[in-house]
Amino acid sequence: MYYIGIDLGTSAVKLLLMDGEGKIINIVSREYPLYFPHPGWSEQKPEDWYEQTVLGIKELIRDADKDQVAGISFGGQMHGLVILDEKDQVIRPAILWNDGRTTEETDYLNTVIGREKLSEYTANIAFAGFTAPKLLWVKNKEPENFARISKIMLPKDYIAYKLTGVHCTDVSDASGMLLFDVKNRCWSREMCDICGISTSQLAKCYESYEAVGTVLPEVAQDLGIRSGVKVAAGAGDNAAAAVGTGTVGDGMCNISLGTSGTIFISSEKFGVDKYNALHSFAHADGSYHLMGCMLSAASCNKWWMDDILGTKEYGAEQAAIAKLGENHVYFLPYLMGERSPHNDPNARAVFLGMSMDTTRADMTQAVLEGVAFALRDSLEVAKSLGIELTRTKICGGGAKSLLWKKIIANVLNLKVDVLENEEGPSMGGAILAAVACGEYGSVEEAAGKIVKVVETVEPETALVAKYEERYRQFKEIYPACKPVFQRNASVGPGKGADCVKG
Ligand code: XUL
Repeated sequence: MYYIGIDLGTSAVKLLLMDGEGKIINIVSREYPLYFPHPGWSEQKPEDWYEQTVLGIKELIRDADKDQVAGISFGGQMHGLVILDEKDQVIRPAILWNDGRTTEETDYLNTVIGREKLSEYTANIAFAGFTAPKLLWVKNKEPENFARISKIMLPKDYIAYKLTGVHCTDVSDASGMLLFDVKNRCWSREMCDICGISTSQLAKCYESYEAVGTVLPEVAQDLGIRSGVKVAAGAGDNAAAAVGTGTVGDGMCNISLGTSGTIFISSEKFGVDKYNALHSFAHADGSYHLMGCMLSAASCNKWWMDDILGTKEYGAEQAAIAKLGENHVYFLPYLMGERSPHNDPNARAVFLGMSMDTTRADMTQAVLEGVAFALRDSLEVAKSLGIELTRTKICGGGAKSLLWKKIIANVLNLKVDVLENEEGPSMGGAILAAVACGEYGSVEEAAGKIVKVVETVEPETALVAKYEERYRQFKEIYPACKPVFQRNASVGPGKGADCVKG
């Protein structure tokens, strides 16, 4: 049988067709626009997601035996607020995970309600990109839209709804809403009261590998698949990526170098970061995880290459990088503000340390290193909680670069296991669909049989020492710049309603 994994990302939807043994049959990607209507805001149209997903599925299975398609599932960009009216029409564009408009609402939640209460109710505190602060923003700034809300959904759940007619979500994605009691895997009544909503406005919550329904007959006909194809709840893209890279069970680590950058640590037991810098979320395999999330990772490199250098020759630019560990240029990768660990929507990117002999390659290198240093910030939090890691998996667009993997291995002093493919979330989605259809008994069994490590990038003692010193310098830059960021709070990204990317 065949399984479709849909990774509903920020720059594009990536679709993957997998057979029952985990062999990839086809991969397709389709882009949609990203809107920055005001400085720090980030939006997309759910209708664009669905349109491109449908076109993507058709393209994905064009040459395949369509009757073999048995299941569909997802990895989806997390935290995005999708609101539907009583006729299930989208009320306003979705407010995304990297949107920083909710400073006031986030402050209200963290200070007036209080971090302790939030942590008790949800295992997390408020971050600007989480869903509950956005809901409060709509309540405060667009009361007419708030009054029309019949259903509150997350991005991938809108696609599941359009395919099946079922309002559903899953435990891993629900964890990032700040409306979910992560420990007990159910909605938090206290948080619903705080946000002025009722649990009936939220979708039914499933485990990621559970079937929520089947594809509607008219949709199946349009897609050319048989009726009765199962749709599984799926997961937030990081939990799906963890499934797709075999980061399941206890104490495993995955780094995702996508638009965002995350460090994901799986755990059999529920646990909260006492500093609340790392997110404490449910995992797609039935357990839990801790996660640090930086808002701009591979997107920093994409911005630097595409928008600033004006090139698509990523490999050639990286080939000009001569020496690791000795760059005199530093880059703070906060193009969209930063989540973990600073929780500062006003932070911005910085190049520091250039001199007359600085080259283009030094600056490219600084971008790659800056992302690695920022991931290290989250790793340091994990270490301070007593978590010991020696190795990690890696996935996402940035993981295609051997040089970047080498930088990460040495900056984080971790062995980096390279997989047969770096299709984390879409692979994870397909695996979750296969489990929902009974092809495998559990997520752990499926990942164990399907995911293969093909190579390991080892840290080198001398380089680790050089990067240790540079990381010490890097850590001093953000606190030094913070007052300037605060004074410039309304500067970029986004120059107005006509600023569109994608
Ligand atoms: C995780 C997060 C991002 C998005 C990217 O908390 O906000 O990784 O899920 O799609």
